[in-house]
Amino acid sequence: MYSLKEKSVIQLNINGEIRDVVLSPSDILMETLRGQLGLTGVKPGCENGDCGACTVLVDGWPVKSCLMLTVEAIGKQITTVEGLKNAPIQKAFIEKFGFQCGYCTSGFLMACHALATIHPDPPDILIDDWLQSNICRCTSYEEIGNAIRAVLSGEIS
Ligand code: FES
Ligand code: FES
Repeated sequence: MYSLKEKSVIQLNINGEIRDVVLSPSDILMETLRGQLGLTGVKPGCENGDCGACTVLVDGWPVKSCLMLTVEAIGKQITTVEGLKNAPIQKAFIEKFGFQCGYCTSGFLMACHALATIHPDPPDILIDDWLQSNICRCTSYEEIGNAIRAVLSGEIS
């Protein structure tokens, strides 16, 4: 149990490293990751949970970091796109042209990486359903679908 004052220093596990963070109880995880830790791969889009651009992994599950308080990340493993480091889905996005402007890309990478980890052999309907959590305004959906299917099939590893 933590008792937070107006400003407290806490430790968070970010991309496998313990990082000190100064926070107020109302701080949002997306802002802490970007503003204090310089992890600008976490993109601010809608900032209300609709677009998925800010998606990070929390203990391996995709979470929209604009909807999570920083204090809720205490004791959790947080992974941002900077922590992926040569995951197959990154190679697949390049080879299958899974992005155009790229603003949504890190969020999609996190969601797809989590899908491949949590559901290594998902039915097609689950892939489509899973990808609905993120929006690509350039409509790269077909290419993104091809990228995740290439990873799931083992074509790209
Ligand atoms: S910025 Fe978080 S869901 Fe859009
Ligand atoms: S590649 Fe442009 S919004 Fe997704």
